[in-house]
Amino acid sequence: MTPHRPSDDDAHTTLEEAFEAADDVPTNPELSDTIGAVIARRYGRREVLQGALGVGVVTALFGPAALTAPAAAGAKPAFAFDELAAGVDETHHVADGYEAHVLIRWGDPVLADAPAFDPRAQTADAQRKQFGYNNDYIAFFPLDETGTRGLLAVNHEYVSSEVMFPGLGGRPDKSDFVKITKEIAEVQMAAHGVSIVEIALENARWRTVPAGRYNRRIDAASTVMTVSGPAAGHARLKTTADATGTRLVGTLNNCAGGQTPWGTYLTGEENFHGYFWTDQKDEKGKRRTRGLGGPQRKSYDRYGVPGNWYNWGQHDARFNVDREPNEPNRFGWIVEIDPADPTSTPVKHTALGRFRHEGAEVIVNTDGRVVVYSGDDARFDYLYRFVSKGTYRPGDKAANMTLLREGTLSAARFNDDGTLSWLPLVHGQGPLTRENGFESQADVTIDARLAADLLKATPMDRPEDVQPHPGNGKVWVMLTNNSLRKPSQIDKANPRADNRFGHIIEMTAPGANHAADTFTWEIFIKCGDPKLAAVGAQWHPETSASGWFAAPDNCAIDARGRLWIATDRGGNWPRTGTTDGIYALETEGERRGLSKLFFRVPVGAEMCGPCFTPDDETLFVAVQHPAVDGVKNYKPFGRASTFEDPATRWPDFKPDMPPRPAIVAIRKTGGGKIA
Ligand code: FEO
Ligand code: CA
Ligand code: CA
Ligand code: CA
Repeated sequence: MTPHRPSDDDAHTTLEEAFEAADDVPTNPELSDTIGAVIARRYGRREVLQGALGVGVVTALFGPAALTAPAAAGAKPAFAFDELAAGVDETHHVADGYEAHVLIRWGDPVLADAPAFDPRAQTADAQRKQFGYNNDYIAFFPLDETGTRGLLAVNHEYVSSEVMFPGLGGRPDKSDFVKITKEIAEVQMAAHGVSIVEIALENARWRTVPAGRYNRRIDAASTVMTVSGPAAGHARLKTTADATGTRLVGTLNNCAGGQTPWGTYLTGEENFHGYFWTDQKDEKGKRRTRGLGGPQRKSYDRYGVPGNWYNWGQHDARFNVDREPNEPNRFGWIVEIDPADPTSTPVKHTALGRFRHEGAEVIVNTDGRVVVYSGDDARFDYLYRFVSKGTYRPGDKAANMTLLREGTLSAARFNDDGTLSWLPLVHGQGPLTRENGFESQADVTIDARLAADLLKATPMDRPEDVQPHPGNGKVWVMLTNNSLRKPSQIDKANPRADNRFGHIIEMTAPGANHAADTFTWEIFIKCGDPKLAAVGAQWHPETSASGWFAAPDNCAIDARGRLWIATDRGGNWPRTGTTDGIYALETEGERRGLSKLFFRVPVGAEMCGPCFTPDDETLFVAVQHPAVDGVKNYKPFGRASTFEDPATRWPDFKPDMPPRPAIVAIRKTGGGKIA
């Protein structure tokens, strides 16, 4: 299709096409608003991907969320697929009638001049041009209205060195650093971050376009970023290399994320503390993790800095807190990336707070302000919400890209009466004063956890993805697990001690006003085996032995407003007898709470991603760390994986190729909407 600039008429055509595509969806006659008005208000018309060469490429950047609005209006179709049987083996599986193809793997080319992948001769230079390790969140940005071209933006959260590099068996990431040379550390840094890669659908099969002009690698060591909001330029962001506190280098532990209605990609920096290092050891000779940071000691301890998970600080002073005590303050943010301009500078938005950001799901509120939900994924940490000061302006990307610079960050308190109070983290209000260690809003955002502590937010069972439904005011919160919660610590929102299976909370924004001070909430699902009374699970009674899950992590909503969950049981999967996967979870009507297994990963992997194309005909999923988790308990293997001896060599199954994290594209055999 010829690229052109959209007009309102074009937008109408697109909407109508979208409605036709969704014409099997009944609409609710009680809806007081027209669908068109809902969409126009929530998502604007459409945005333009303005390429680096100045050529406007039209994109129906409604994305999956916008097309959901018709579904928001009424009952959704039940999931129509034959459930996959739970289990575990060396490869992936999808429900009958669907095909799952590997689209791109660790080491595959992203940039046109990427060298061929050679896992025995890895270099940082090569990795900076190749698809990174441990793919997590995925976003799809259509490049035209045919639905056959688009950009895939993918997070690379971390590396599994023992299966990534020869000779590094035995958990080198966290304990045995002797073998991690400077060269290996630099490959690790290059394997983190984000990939943006053009893809095209040809003959019912998605393929990457290695010469795509938007293709880009963003990594932990070489990509220069800037910073916005209250902490930009603050003394606590200044380092030896950056006297301005505004020129940051790299992003890391990019876990989940979000997609803005103006066509940008948000990526959450999660376990940043693990990358920081100290040379100081305690009396037992163990590298210290607490009591460091001098005047920032309280902050360091609350954030777990330094974690000493990686030895980058041994090779690069930037990651050594003894040398650069402010560098940790430059991570733990939400980063906005414009995939339409591969030369653009990513921005870390400090107004959204610093914590172990799982993701950043975005919705345009009824009043036009932009709301971003984000979980702080740690045991007993909090759920947050950001509400922009300004309002979304359809079609004005430049203006919209300023929206995350200023607004109100709040933390959630789940009250026992089923209401939820959003507690604003505003300097000078309540306890957030100089007397309590907050000199300014910069301190409040850098130490968002400490601020939320003082406001008495509710400590949660590891909040992961937080997914607003685009139309009906519901927001689903994935709480993955918390085995440390004691019986004395349970509350209504975290009702199980030793919570090994996790749960899902459904919040309701009153009148779909996501900026309201008070929501309501209820426990939607208590995960785990419904057959075991001691687990205390809560599901629809027809949920099968294959359909129940544990450890909800990422999730997505398809174009018909239906919820799909990706799980991360970690090394605990043998307790549940199955690997991680994608589950379709009914949220409404008589089937509410009914879950069905759709896809499962190879042994040792975690399920990440789920991302639908706007037409619901493709589901992209990310298979993270195949061969790693819990493989000692995988009977046919029964030992820890190494590069030389992994539990699976998915997806290549070649004797000289290690397992490779990869993106899988799932389509219905013969075409059509998924499920
Ligand atoms: Fe990176 Fe909380 O999962
Ligand atoms: Ca996650
Ligand atoms: Ca999500
Ligand atoms: Ca995870």
